[in-house]
Amino acid sequence: MKNESTMKILTVALGVCLVCAILVATTAVTLKPIQRQNQENDKLHNILSAAGLLQNNDADLQSLFRKHIRAEIIHLEKGIPIDPQKLDESLKADQFNIKEISKIDEYTRPLPPEDDAAQIKNVPRYMIVYNVIQRDSVTKRILPVYGKGLWSTMYGFLALGSDLRTIQALTFYEHGETPGLGGEVDNPRWKRLWIDKQAFDEEGELKIEVVKGQVNPASPKAKYQVDGLSGSTLTTRGVNNLVRFWLGKSGWGPYINYLTSAIKKGNL
Ligand SMILES: Cc1cc2nc3c(=O)[nH]c(=O)nc-3n(C[C@H](O)[C@H](O)[C@H](O)COP(=O)(O)O)c2cc1C
Repeated sequence: MKNESTMKILTVALGVCLVCAILVATTAVTLKPIQRQNQENDKLHNILSAAGLLQNNDADLQSLFRKHIRAEIIHLEKGIPIDPQKLDESLKADQFNIKEISKIDEYTRPLPPEDDAAQIKNVPRYMIVYNVIQRDSVTKRILPVYGKGLWSTMYGFLALGSDLRTIQALTFYEHGETPGLGGEVDNPRWKRLWIDKQAFDEEGELKIEVVKGQVNPASPKAKYQVDGLSGSTLTTRGVNNLVRFWLGKSGWGPYINYLTSAIKKGNL
């Protein structure tokens, strides 16, 4: 075959494609477990960061997690914890994967559009809560939250203090918003704005909101408000909607009510 023959050019091109395809596929398959482990570590990092337990970068995430975090599975509609013995294997705390659970009909219920501010279509029947334990008592509760931003579903954690009203952190461990715009949800300066904001008023009414622009510090509403991200109105609206959805009646509302009355009765 001549070097410039069409057959030879095609054979070489196909050969190169095949070798490249095999290389890419092998790399993707071999890297998958490492990627999964990194995602898992990133999630632990975010839970511990929302818990305020990450003082230095080289902390041993696994042992900090084991020492200070006690995970529980909650029946969201009833707002009560479930005995782990009664749970299917995939719902147990160490296996619990929100993305997977939210795809399984049996473990979710559809949301009517008027209740679906977070635009998630189906809400899990069961959710995991991470209790932060310090000196034998629960100091914070880390509630997973998620919902649509502009380009992506954003997955994060909202930490509530032991009074169940004060926000201690909001952090996202997965989203596809634009770096420098909606991606600023990861900006530590913006995340700090959430600390000590009040989610509910004295009557238990949901008040927290992300405003367009800046919060007026002189306003009586300031303790319930967080600055919006500039140039990112749509992501900001998504964060506002998902936080309010998850703190509301179709999200963590019943669990927060259950805890509040249990604390009042002295049962917790
Ligand atoms: C390439 C590109 C990426 C964008 N990414 C985001 C984003 O991640 N989040 C967002 O809210 N707006 C994003 N926007 C801007 C929106 O399209 C829209 O203009 C903006 O949300 C309006 O916000 P403003 O009223 O604060 O200016 C992006 C725009 C472009 C052109």
